[in-house]
Amino acid sequence: MRADIGVVGGSGFYELLTDAEQVGVDTPYGEPSDLVSVGSVGGRRVAFLPRHGRRHTQAPHTINYRANVWALRSLGVRRILAPCAVGSLRRELGPGALVVPDQLVDRTSGRVQTFYDEGAVHVSFADPYCGQGRTAVLKAAADAGDGAHDGGTMVVVEGPRFSTRAESQWFAAAGWSLVNMTGHPEAVLARELGLCYTSVALVTDLDAGIDADDSVSQEDVFKVFGENTERLRNVILEAVKLLPERRECPCGHVLDGIPLPFDLP
Ligand code: ADE
Repeated sequence: MRADIGVVGGSGFYELLTDAEQVGVDTPYGEPSDLVSVGSVGGRRVAFLPRHGRRHTQAPHTINYRANVWALRSLGVRRILAPCAVGSLRRELGPGALVVPDQLVDRTSGRVQTFYDEGAVHVSFADPYCGQGRTAVLKAAADAGDGAHDGGTMVVVEGPRFSTRAESQWFAAAGWSLVNMTGHPEAVLARELGLCYTSVALVTDLDAGIDADDSVSQEDVFKVFGENTERLRNVILEAVKLLPERRECPCGHVLDGIPLPFDLP
């Protein structure tokens, strides 16, 4: 049961592959969110893990991000595509828009965000997302017809509550584009294991500070995500096929020359 590409499904995205085998993976950090489904897409081996669990039992701040990322790497995964639901901080990116962010701001608190509690391991995270992965997703979305917005900063909040209007206006005034609850520490943990990580954000709502007449509701988020799951799934499947066989990005070299306190899986 090996795979090269991992997909971590977000809210409402609980299945990717129709013909897949399920595997339970043990990790030194405990259990991942669920069984991992492993199958083939256009000749590529893909592992799918629903981030919140198949029945959406795990809230963003309780997800065992370390176990999820470790489990994928231990199955052979070197590249992760990470679909997620996001609120928009920009009126022009309305519900249904697909965005491939290029920056991240961490506003979470108290989440475990490293594998390296021992030793001196400090990874570069200036560019949190993989360039090759972003190119593949953008092309897949363009080929599918509506395209995806290229770039933008995603601010990740602790949740599980949504932001106040003032917080939301503050994020927008800082020039950030998207707000979400799961993008961190998933991205940095992938980086810490030398994996490529690409966030694929589906806008489900205008955040509270942008839409003065309304506040964000969980119902709306799930409804819009549900309406767009099939589209997102197709973009992810096409992106899997477009990822070059060889990694020619810096992601896999981030640990070069750094003595690690344990062997990577
Ligand atoms: N996920 C989807 N919409 C969101 C929002 N407005 N804020 C935080 N996370 C979200």
